[in-house]
Amino acid sequence: MTDPTHALSFGAAAGDYDRFRPRYPEAAVRWALDGLDAPARVVDLGAGTGILTRGVLALGHHVVPVEPDPGMRAQLETATPGTPALAGSAESVPLPDGAADAVLAGQAYHWFDPERAHAEIARLLRPGGLLAPIWNLRDERTAWVAELARIARLGDSPDDLAGRFGDFGPAFEPAEQAWFAHRPTLTPDELVGMVRTRSYYLTADPGRRRDVDRELRELLDTHPELAGRERFELPYRTLVCRARRR
Ligand SMILES: C[S@@+](CC[C@H](N)C(=O)[O-])C[C@H]1O[C@@H](n2cnc3c(N)ncnc32)[C@H](O)[C@@H]1O
Repeated sequence: MTDPTHALSFGAAAGDYDRFRPRYPEAAVRWALDGLDAPARVVDLGAGTGILTRGVLALGHHVVPVEPDPGMRAQLETATPGTPALAGSAESVPLPDGAADAVLAGQAYHWFDPERAHAEIARLLRPGGLLAPIWNLRDERTAWVAELARIARLGDSPDDLAGRFGDFGPAFEPAEQAWFAHRPTLTPDELVGMVRTRSYYLTADPGRRRDVDRELRELLDTHPELAGRERFELPYRTLVCRARRR
């Protein structure tokens, strides 16, 4: 999962990424921040194009996005005026000790080098501050979504992820987890656009990309819950893992 080719594959498709990737449900972001009074100081690690950054700004907090990929940072600055992103990574953040009340990571924690990132995040957080990685995960209990995941090799199943991320090292209390359901609506073209922003697709060779495109069109044209629809719901479960710095 931490293959650097995949970890830094998103920048080339930053505009599409920002357009097609799902937003995070407000209830999930609020739970991640555990009732912190606004404005709290929040660092968004692996901020990408700022999808989570904007969700946190909307709750009235100060956000410092940190992102290693220059293409993603440029898109963030276009889409989120007034909130410039810092060049950095979870393993090396250009901010002083204790600068954050909370550190969030949307769809990004699984790319980090855990030991180095845990130490760096513990340095950044004040005592009692919160670390909360968040993932929007497709709900593969719906049959066509499971088929979509097979076609586009969309990665780990929700339950694998939940089992894997409960321990953030000795500087943190044991993590708590919560799930939030949401169902954004998409057009067929938006679903194709979303798949094309996934790291598997971005790093696949042209032949494999053509196979994914063809199988995806077939799914859209033939599956009874999708065929002929202008819009449909894509069910997601959002997983939040939250741990307090000791
Ligand atoms: C799937 S994107 C998620 C972007 C954004 N947080 C969102 O929710 O849409 C993953 C991001 O993590 C970044 N990334 C990869 N490795 C990283 C690392 N070691 N530290 C911080 N960010 C990293 C990538 O450049 C990419 O922008």
